Amino acid sequence: MSAATDITTGARQGDSPAPKGFAARRTFAIISHPDAGKTTLTEKLLLAGGAINMAGAVKARGENRRARSDWMEIEQSRGISVTSSVMTFEREGITFNLLDTPGHSDFSEDTYRTLTAVDSAIMVVDVAKGIESQTRKLFEICRLRDIPIITFANKVDREGRNAFEVMDEVEEALQLSVSPQVWPVGMGSDFHGCYDLFTNEYLYSSLRAGGPCDSVKQMTGIDDPALDAMVPEHVLTRFREEAELAREGYAPFDADAYRQGHLTPVVFGSALRDFSVDQLLRIVARFAPPPRSQPSDKGPVDPRTNAVSAFVFKVQANMDPNHRDRVAFVRFCSGHFKRGMKLNHVRSGKPLAVNNPIYFFAQERDLAEEAFAGDVIGIPNHGTLRVGDTLTEGETFRFTGLPSFAPEVMRRVRLEDTMRMKQLRRALEDLAEEGLVQVFKPVIGSNWIVGVVGPLQLDVLASRIKQEYKTDIGFEPVPFSTARWISSPDEKKLKTFIDENKMSVAEDRDGRPVFLPKGDWELRYARERNPDLRFDETRELV
Ligand code: G4P
Repeated sequence: MSAATDITTGARQGDSPAPKGFAARRTFAIISHPDAGKTTLTEKLLLAGGAINMAGAVKARGENRRARSDWMEIEQSRGISVTSSVMTFEREGITFNLLDTPGHSDFSEDTYRTLTAVDSAIMVVDVAKGIESQTRKLFEICRLRDIPIITFANKVDREGRNAFEVMDEVEEALQLSVSPQVWPVGMGSDFHGCYDLFTNEYLYSSLRAGGPCDSVKQMTGIDDPALDAMVPEHVLTRFREEAELAREGYAPFDADAYRQGHLTPVVFGSALRDFSVDQLLRIVARFAPPPRSQPSDKGPVDPRTNAVSAFVFKVQANMDPNHRDRVAFVRFCSGHFKRGMKLNHVRSGKPLAVNNPIYFFAQERDLAEEAFAGDVIGIPNHGTLRVGDTLTEGETFRFTGLPSFAPEVMRRVRLEDTMRMKQLRRALEDLAEEGLVQVFKPVIGSNWIVGVVGPLQLDVLASRIKQEYKTDIGFEPVPFSTARWISSPDEKKLKTFIDENKMSVAEDRDGRPVFLPKGDWELRYARERNPDLRFDETRELV
């Protein structure tokens, strides 16, 4: 039986024996434009997964939010989520690893890296706004990495675009086939619930208008007379027509097409009022891909490989302001990891005893006793682990595909109190390691130059250095527009270029030479004059 017919039978996760180990992992992210409802949906997924038992634990509700994730002042004052984190929860034998991606467009680098660690994504779209700019950008990253996407069309309880318009927009904007899974029964003021087109379940609120989804009724089909008693006639007639058209007019669900990134199942719902959240989680459990092979310099690493392997996709310093800790977020790619294992830290060639790995549950951390491919754990360390690092059980290959991007905004760092040079150096090193900024030391001159992908990152940088390192900094403009890593097979030519361009050359934090052009014209000119040199926009992290 194909997966396509599977879902039409309405069989639920749990009908068959739950898969074990990596096959039971679903590691995914939610992508969206700010305000589409990502935080609300995250919270509701955690509630549905039993990971939290109180609404408001994730989303800002005064002190609650501060307690959980708003450890950054900047996040509090701007009300945006600027850091990624991971939330693990289990339901019906499936382990879900939900990786949070920052919602703001300035943090694309961090988001990009987070997306290297997931196997699928949920795209949240506000039905009133459709596909917005940030959604499109994030979608492009998913497409580059062949990450399959489930679309959650949110806020059906509000006046929005008609459901067909939303479907067509997703189809056209993203060039994907769309397949309706859960359809709204009326929208806005006419909203009367949602209907699962595959299981024929009608989701509604016993409180009627304005209430949360608290009831599910099994129907025999959209013509079931039981619906007539529950939904006003004008809403029901329209729903029946629409559902009929939707079933016929769009692609039937095809699990393979979805997993290959050609088709997106679309679930209409309301995160705020709990409509279709359960359905969404069920679709993730049932159809989202388990861990996939990960690219490495020695070829793809299959998750079924016995030996443990993992890579660091994020490092976060000072997660707990009371303890100066640094946590490396590690995604496992193969094997069965057990706490206490000694892993090979490929970059340094040294063994690393992983004695205190952390799992991140919704509201707490716990020691991770084991992990399979797909799992994400945190490894506290004192700077040994960096973004892009590979851990293995002994082999010496390296996972690839975690680039460092050329910055688009460059500034010179001004230290307000010159006595705090040491703290500043430490702060820049730490935060560069997190990937928040790139740090360059000019060949001539003593002030650090920082590069970021978006200007909001500068505010975050200053705020964190003030808060976490008790050091005040300011920024001054520099004439440079970006940075390019320079290299050449001909060492002499590289050296000559550096000597001739001392004013525009710096070293990155690993001592690699970087050219800082004043604009596109200068970069073009340098390229033309130096055909033996490479000017790279990204560099693989090693
Ligand atoms: P984000 O993380 O994507 O930025 O969005 P978030 O969940 O914070 O939601 C943005 C706003 O949209 C919030 O309102 C939230 O309550 C609302 N929202 C989310 N899902 C739904 C839904 O299904 N229906 C309706 N009607 N609203 C929804 P807010 O007023 O900005 O915040 P709050 O005061 O409600 O927390």
